[in-house]
Amino acid sequence: MRSFIQSIFGKGAPKQLRILPQDVTITMAPGQTLLEAALANDIPYPHDCTVGTCASCKTRLKQGRVREATPFGYTLSKAELDAGYILACQAFPRDELTVVELDVQSATLPPAEQFEARIVATEPLTHDILKVTVQADRPVHYLAGQYAKLRIPGSERFRCYSFANAPQRNGRSSIEFYIRKVPGGEFTGALFSAELDGKPLEMEAPHGTFYLRGGDAPMVCIAGGSGLAPLISILEHIRGNRIQRDCTLLFGARTQGDLYQLDSIANIAANWRGEFRFIPVLSQEPEVSDWTGARGLVTDHIPAEFCDSAEGYLCGPPPMIDAAITRLLELGIPLEKIFYDKFTDGRDL
Ligand code: FES
Repeated sequence: MRSFIQSIFGKGAPKQLRILPQDVTITMAPGQTLLEAALANDIPYPHDCTVGTCASCKTRLKQGRVREATPFGYTLSKAELDAGYILACQAFPRDELTVVELDVQSATLPPAEQFEARIVATEPLTHDILKVTVQADRPVHYLAGQYAKLRIPGSERFRCYSFANAPQRNGRSSIEFYIRKVPGGEFTGALFSAELDGKPLEMEAPHGTFYLRGGDAPMVCIAGGSGLAPLISILEHIRGNRIQRDCTLLFGARTQGDLYQLDSIANIAANWRGEFRFIPVLSQEPEVSDWTGARGLVTDHIPAEFCDSAEGYLCGPPPMIDAAITRLLELGIPLEKIFYDKFTDGRDL
């Protein structure tokens, strides 16, 4: 398949790729995607899956046209496509010069490293979400919101899970993850049956371009299911560093039994510098229950009064992310200030 694609797109004179903000120009080899060309020239370029599902390589196309190996629209929202974003791992150049622009901070993220780790504790948070504490062989440096890949030694696949703790200045060795059980899932099946307790794991971290941006802009954070983990990391980091920001946290779950870490959220709220609003929203809570809070889709309960300097931090399944982006754009938050981690990269399996 790949050679077929290369036979189609690889013909013609060498093409040039200019990458901003580094402002470096490289010559592409025939058949290379933009991402492959950058990495082959030792240019750090955010990426992870390389198959068009994680959006880590999301890039704004400034000049030139590209062909899509797989449609960008599977992963990027319509708003992102309209704003000129592409996926560098799925883009073949069509013109002599292609100019792309990376997010300034994402262009300088540290590369992932390999760690040996061990599961030292587990604790059920809900009937299908487990808090898993992992001890790494040395401190892991990451940004609040990023994720790690975990693998049982000898198995082929890594699974991706967000750090649920705030990072520490000198790195963190004891790390928590919130892991949802997937029916029939090999990794989570072993995890939930305690087969992996005390067992070694391979960990690769940090990954991801979803992380807290600096500053004091108001924030709207929206979590769905196990998507709460990176937002707890972000909020704990802000609280721990006594940063003053107004924040609205929306947490979408199915029923009251699917809400978790409410004590942690209450603790964050009690020690928050600035205004903090917490809005849990239940989509499948029985009508006869004692729940008096919000019901329906979490994205239908985003308050309307955000200024255009606000930032959006979203983590959850694709329909929630897409609906949240649409709503935040309607409310005037620009696309450049909406950051998300969409569960399209194989986590939870
Ligand atoms: S690296 Fe391009 S979408 Fe994941």
